[in-house]
Amino acid sequence: MKSKVKSIETKYREERQTFFQGLKNLDRRSFLKVAAAAMGAAVASGITPHHSFQSVALAGGAISAGKGASFRFAYISDSHLYEKKINDRFVRSLLRAVEDINNLDPQPDFVFYGGDLAQLGQPKELELGARILKNVKAPIKMMVGEHDWYLDMGRKWRELFGEPTYSWDHKGVHFVVLNSVVERDFWTARKLTPMERMMTVAGLDNGVQSPFTVGAPQRQWLRKDLSKYSNDTPLVVFSHSPLYKLYKNWNFWTDDAEEVQAILKRFKRVVVIHGHTHQLLTNRIGNIHFHGLLSTAWPWPYAPEGMPELTIEMNRPDPFNPNDGCGDGEVFVHPDGLVDKVYNLWNRKPIVVAKAYTESWGKQAKPPKPNRAGY
Ligand SMILES: [Fe+2]
Ligand SMILES: [Fe+2]
Repeated sequence: MKSKVKSIETKYREERQTFFQGLKNLDRRSFLKVAAAAMGAAVASGITPHHSFQSVALAGGAISAGKGASFRFAYISDSHLYEKKINDRFVRSLLRAVEDINNLDPQPDFVFYGGDLAQLGQPKELELGARILKNVKAPIKMMVGEHDWYLDMGRKWRELFGEPTYSWDHKGVHFVVLNSVVERDFWTARKLTPMERMMTVAGLDNGVQSPFTVGAPQRQWLRKDLSKYSNDTPLVVFSHSPLYKLYKNWNFWTDDAEEVQAILKRFKRVVVIHGHTHQLLTNRIGNIHFHGLLSTAWPWPYAPEGMPELTIEMNRPDPFNPNDGCGDGEVFVHPDGLVDKVYNLWNRKPIVVAKAYTESWGKQAKPPKPNRAGY
């Protein structure tokens, strides 16, 4: 008797084909289909994708409830998309994050994307990312990362998403997005090709690239942008690299951080939210409260020295689960502009770094370590 059961290879090939076919023309209907395919893997490995996120959203809502215009936004960051023929895991992870956030009820006021949408700044990588992010239901705000920029110096990214430096007001809070990955020209004298330049910036510890900066022109822009606002305006600033100096060899570092911090100093409370470090990261320097974003692609290890005291470190990711240590999340903005930062870890309990934690310099509301036992 001939078996009707398909071989694993055939089934895999068919599923993959459907998945990529769906990615080609990603309208809402095919998005749901490919997202479901992407989610299949998560469910099969015993992770329930939405449940934990929703319960945190409700808890967070309760935390934020009160007078004034508290609100929340969601975030996705550091998806590092390769062209799909090379790697589809990161594509699936981004689809999963979009689904996570589209399932939030109520919907966030907007979704912030924290940079490094592409892996090597290639037009096809950025276009794929833009196509996927079009399916986010809430309005989306974009930030650029070094992986998006150094192949064509931002030409494609700008074409898709506009200028990388901008600001807006929302419910009494002033939001600013900076391009913090500006590097000094190390490529012209060395006669590097665009791809060599991109690969150099994408690498660590190479001693060739210059450190990231915000740079004088943007600092000038920032000073001017903020000049219209009084010192007690709640201020949230987004930068791809942390706006402080953490670990230079990995470029967890912004070289003119002190100069930017000086511009922000007159404000009573400032929140800086950054991508790039792919991990739970919390810091406070004077009036500035810093929060890192999770990556959908992979978690970085922690810097071997100089870790900020307020950081709650998670232990090393489970090597048998490629999504461990990855995730997305939400930010609850209180009327005074300080935030409860939610790390929605896909394979662990979600962690909330509450406003009271950074406000009390770590004395109150200490979050539990989001560690998993056994590895
Ligand atoms: Fe990244
Ligand atoms: Fe980055």
